Amino acid sequence: MKHAIYVTRHLPETALYKLQTVCDVEIWDRDIPPPYDLLVEKVRDKQGLFCLLTDRIDAALMDAAPRLKVISQCAVGYDNIAVTAATERGIPVGNTPGVLTDATADFAFTLLMSAARRIGEAIDYVRQGNWTTWGLTLLLGQSVYGATLGIIGMGRIGQAVAQRASGFNMKVLYYDTSRQHEAEARLGVEFCSLEELLQASDYVSLHVNLTEETRGLMDAQAFALMKPTAILINTARGPIVDADALHVALKEGQIAYAALDVTDPEPLPADHNLLELPNLIVAPHIASATVPSRNLMSMRAAENLLAGLRGERLPYCANPEVYG
Ligand code: GLV
Repeated sequence: MKHAIYVTRHLPETALYKLQTVCDVEIWDRDIPPPYDLLVEKVRDKQGLFCLLTDRIDAALMDAAPRLKVISQCAVGYDNIAVTAATERGIPVGNTPGVLTDATADFAFTLLMSAARRIGEAIDYVRQGNWTTWGLTLLLGQSVYGATLGIIGMGRIGQAVAQRASGFNMKVLYYDTSRQHEAEARLGVEFCSLEELLQASDYVSLHVNLTEETRGLMDAQAFALMKPTAILINTARGPIVDADALHVALKEGQIAYAALDVTDPEPLPADHNLLELPNLIVAPHIASATVPSRNLMSMRAAENLLAGLRGERLPYCANPEVYG
C-alpha cells in the first residue's frame, strides 16, 4: 500500500512526480497557505507532511496525526515548526540547506546594491514622468566599492555574501555566536562584537536563524549604534528586526535605508506604516526564488520525505537528535 502524504502547496513537476510514484499525494491547490484547522484535519491520517515556511506545524498538529512519520519542510529555515515537540514524538524534520545559498546571497547583494543606488526611487521617478534632465545632485546614493559590510551570522549564506563582497573590495566584519576560523582564513572576514559591527558598518546584512535569542536583535538600541548613512539588509527572517524600531530609525535618519526580503508581519500589508517611507525597499520573500534553486529545494524536500517514510535517516535533518 502506498504511503499517504499531504503537500501544502503546488510543487515543481519533477518533485511532484517523484512523490506520486510511491505515495498517495493530496495537495492543497490554492496559492495561499491552508488554514491551520484544515491542515490539522488533513494530516490526521497521513504518514508524511511536505510543508512550507508559511505553515504552522505545532505540537497539537503532531498529536492529531498519530501516523505521522516525517515532516519535510521545503526551506532551509524551520522556525515555523515546533522541532523539539517533533523530536519528543520521534518525528524527524527535514529542511533544504545548501541548494539556496547562492540564490539567497545573490539576492542579499541585489538588495544591497538597490538600496545603495536607490533603484526603487529611480524607477518610480522615470515611470512617473519626472525625468526632465540630467542633474548633478539627482538621486545621489552611496558607494559600495570599498565600503564596510557587517555580516551578522557567518553560516553558509553569510559566507556566500562575504564572497560576493570581495569582488567589490569591501572590508567585511562579522559577528556570530562562535568564531568561524575557516571562513576568516578563506574569505579574509574579521570577527568583532555586535556593537563594533553596528558602529563601523556602512551595510549590515542579517544571516542568522530566527530563534528566541535573535528575535528583535535589531532593536532601537542597535539602530542607535549604526551610522546615519548605514543601510540594513534582511534576507533572513522578519522578526529579527523590530519593525517599530526600524520605522523610527528610518524616519528619524538614525540609519539611511533598509532593504528587506522578509518582514514582520509577513506578508506586509500594503497599508503598513513602513511602506509610507521613501527610504525602504521591500520584496515579497523571494531571495531563493530562482528556477534552479526552487527545483533543487523541492527535490531535496521530496528526498527527505521519502527517506522518512522508508524509516531511513533523512539526508538533511533539522533534528538529528531524534535518532538518539
Ligand atoms: C527561505 O526563507 C528559507 O528558509 O528557505
